[in-house]
This record gives sequence, C-alpha cells and structure tokens, in this order.
Amino acid sequence: MRAHEAGWAHAAASVRGPAWLREPADVNALVPQLWSGTARKVDGVLEVGGVLVTDLVREHGSPAYVLDEVDFRARAAAFRTAFEAFDVYYAGKAFLCTTVARWVVEEGLFLDVCSGGELAVAIRAQVPPQRIGFHGNNKTPGELSEAVELGVGRIIVDSVHEIERLAAITRELGRTARVLIRVTAGVEAHTHEYIATAHEDQKFGFSISSGDALEAAREIAGVPGLELLGLHSHIGSQIFDSAGFEVAARRVLALHAQISDEVGLEMPEMDLGGGFGIAYTTQDDPSDPAQLAIELTKIVTDEAKARGVAVPRLSIEPGRAIVGPAMCTVYEVGTVKAVELDAGPGVTSVRTYVSVDGGMSDNIRTALYDADYSATLASRHSEAPALLSRIVGKHCEAGDIVVKDEFLPGDVMPGDLLAVPGTGAYCRSMASNYNHAARPPVIVVKDGSSAVAVRRETIDDLLRLDVDPAAGMED
Ligand code: LLP
Repeated sequence: MRAHEAGWAHAAASVRGPAWLREPADVNALVPQLWSGTARKVDGVLEVGGVLVTDLVREHGSPAYVLDEVDFRARAAAFRTAFEAFDVYYAGKAFLCTTVARWVVEEGLFLDVCSGGELAVAIRAQVPPQRIGFHGNNKTPGELSEAVELGVGRIIVDSVHEIERLAAITRELGRTARVLIRVTAGVEAHTHEYIATAHEDQKFGFSISSGDALEAAREIAGVPGLELLGLHSHIGSQIFDSAGFEVAARRVLALHAQISDEVGLEMPEMDLGGGFGIAYTTQDDPSDPAQLAIELTKIVTDEAKARGVAVPRLSIEPGRAIVGPAMCTVYEVGTVKAVELDAGPGVTSVRTYVSVDGGMSDNIRTALYDADYSATLASRHSEAPALLSRIVGKHCEAGDIVVKDEFLPGDVMPGDLLAVPGTGAYCRSMASNYNHAARPPVIVVKDGSSAVAVRRETIDDLLRLDVDPAAGMED
C-alpha cells in the first residue's frame, strides 16, 4: 500500500525536513542548476545526453552512474578558458578512469593524482607525464621512484622524510625532480565559511606559521636533484567565495617573498589548490569559474605587487566542480515503507522510506559527511501529491541513507527509477564493496548513445580475490 493511498499524505506533511527545504511547485520538474547540461525530462522520463534513463537501465542495468560527456567537457573547457593564464589540474581523486583522463588532456587540462593507482590510470590513458602533478602525504618510496623515472611534471612534497627520499632517489637515478612544497596557511574553508587560525592541526603540508615551510625550502635548496617550482596551498572543499583564498594567498605570498629574500630562490609557480563548490541542493549557489578567476588573479597580483615579487604562474586543482554535476546516479526502487513517527501527544506523522538498489556502497558521502543530495522520479510523470521522503540503500546499516530529505511524488513504487544528481565527485571514487555489493558501472552518454566507461563489477570479480589459505601453506 502506498503512503498517499493510506491517507497519510496530509499527516506526512508534519514530518519536517531541513528548514530550507521547500515543497516544489512541480515535483516532476528538474532544478536546472543541480543537473548536467543535457539533462531534461521527456514526458516525465529523465533524459541525459539524449538517452532516456529507462532505455539506459534496460541496456546497462541499475544502479548506474551516468556521465554526461558534453557536460564534463564543457565544465573542463570553462575552467580552461576562465583561467587561461593559469595551469588547470583536474583533481583525479574526485573521479578518475582512463576515459576521463583522456578527456582532461584533450580539453587542455593537466592532471593531479595522489596515489600510485591514480598514476597508473593516467599512464594507461597516455597522459604525458609532464602534465601530471603527484600529491600525497605519504607517498611510498616505490611511488616516488616511479614518478621520478616517468618524469612527472611536479611532485608536491609534504614532509621532511619525503625530501630525504627524493634526494636519495634523484641521486641514484641521476635525475632531477621538479617539486612544490605543500604548505598549510592556517586557513580552513568550508562552504560559506572559513576559519583562519594561527595553528594547523592536520596531516597535510608544512606549517607556514611555525617556520617548517621555510625550513623545507632551505632543505630542498640544498639538494642538487630537486628543483623548487613553488608553494602549494589547498584550503578545503565546497568553497563558495574567495575570502578564504584571499587570506591563504596573502600568507603563501609572504612566504614566497621570504624564500626569495632569505634562501635566494626565485620560484616561478604557485598553486592555490581546489575546493570550488557545486550545487547539491537548491541551497547551494556556486561561483562562476570566470568570476573566481578574476578574483584569484587580483588577489595574487595585488599581493605580489605589495611584496615586490614577480607574479608567479598560478595553477588550480578543481575536481568536484568539473565532474560533480556531470554525473548522476540512477537507482531502481525496491520497497517503499511509510514509517509512523511519534510526533508528540495525539499527533502521528509519517516518514516515507524509499529503498533503492544501491546505497552507502556507491555514495558514502551522506553517511560520512552528512551531505545533502536531491533526487527526482526518473521513469515516469506522476500526478500524485508530493511527499517528503527519505531515500535509503539496501545495506545492513541504519545510517545507509542516500538522500536525507526530498519531495517525491507520493505514489513512488517498486520498479520506479530515481535519479540523484551531482554524484560525479567522490562517489564512484569512494565506493566500497560493503555487504559484497558489486560497484555500479559508469556509463557515458552523448548525442543519444550510451557506452560503458567503467564496467559493472560482478560477484565473480569479488570472489576472484578469495584464496584458500590452506593451498598456500606448507604441510
Ligand atoms: N587539490 C588538493 C591538494 C586536494 O586535496 C583536493 C581534495 C583537491 C585539489 C580537489 O578538491 P575539489 O575541487 O574536488 O573539492 N571526499 C571529500 C573531499 C575530499 C577532498 C580531498 N582533497 C568529499 O567527498 O567531499
């Protein structure tokens, strides 16, 4: 029995979502800023890249990540154009596969990787090594050797141990490595807020305020195999304004000038990191890349002028802002449950739990970060009144929530498809096999066609990892 049929629709209105969530005028309509550029509804059915998701699921199964190629390329190109005086590194940690790595290069971007695994994807995709930046607070000696041997464009060093390792590796291989120093500027930015403090309590980077970052520059200057390109600062995620960047850039430029004066190194570059926000719900209002470019350029240029140093060549590392909105996840509804809540004496309200065929294994962000998402009924038009619903997964955990609160038509039923926008960043890349879930495929859609970019995992894929230990033990 469906919730509205049971006459609960009215009572359900007393279940409150977050204060900002409003019942939409038309529950079938898409909110454009949440979706990739080619997404639209055709007679109530979601179409992305000219492909109806009903057809897509018939062909490729559910759940599936749907990647809008035109949208991804457009966002990459928008950063490339807006930041034309910068080098733009796509942050592969947000989502990386060989197809995306190729698009990144074709769109004139560089690629930021942060593990040997991501480096392997880049190399498989034939990304020129000099277009790769290599991050990480604990790169292994093996990863560092590989990076130096390949001749990656820049290694962002993060510790004294790493400087020592790179000194040994470059000596042994007779090679030079180009490096940036990851610094912590004492700025932490999240969404609309940033916190500027004197001390940094985190694992990344060398502190500017303690003098560690200056000391790192001195050490690197003494290693013949290392060429110091500049400083690198990344202040956070989902940032919507440039205030945090401004404070960080001032502090980083002060150090840049100090290194020039005291160590005698003129560093040609500076990296301001990533973290540019996207819209997950109607609450989010991200900046346009062109506006950001103007603001960041002005901040650095003014500060460099004030300090009497040449303006370094700037780079940025957007991940989420390029791939996040370019993907959505399509799920099939399996069960719908109207759960009565005790809302106080004499008042009963109902929360509608809509269970889908995926969950925290394909999107951990809701459970891990309390992230907000949106959703739409993707397989048909509905005239049923909207009900505040909670979309949950199929995993053995009560916190397995995909979308905490969303208005869906009150007649959502098993077999319906739901689509969640904005899942391109940190969903497939953080996916797990919890409960031996096979991770969903990434399907590229473009001009009315769909094709697999990352295939669906199978239970055989997972079972292939199981080995009988008795067979490996000596008698
Ligand atoms: N550069 C550096 C050095 C980073 O550490 C990061 C993200 C980026 C660039 C890209 O940031 P983006 O533009 O994608 O925000 N798993 C979390 C996000 C972790 C971000 C880690 N570093 C999430 O799902 O929100």
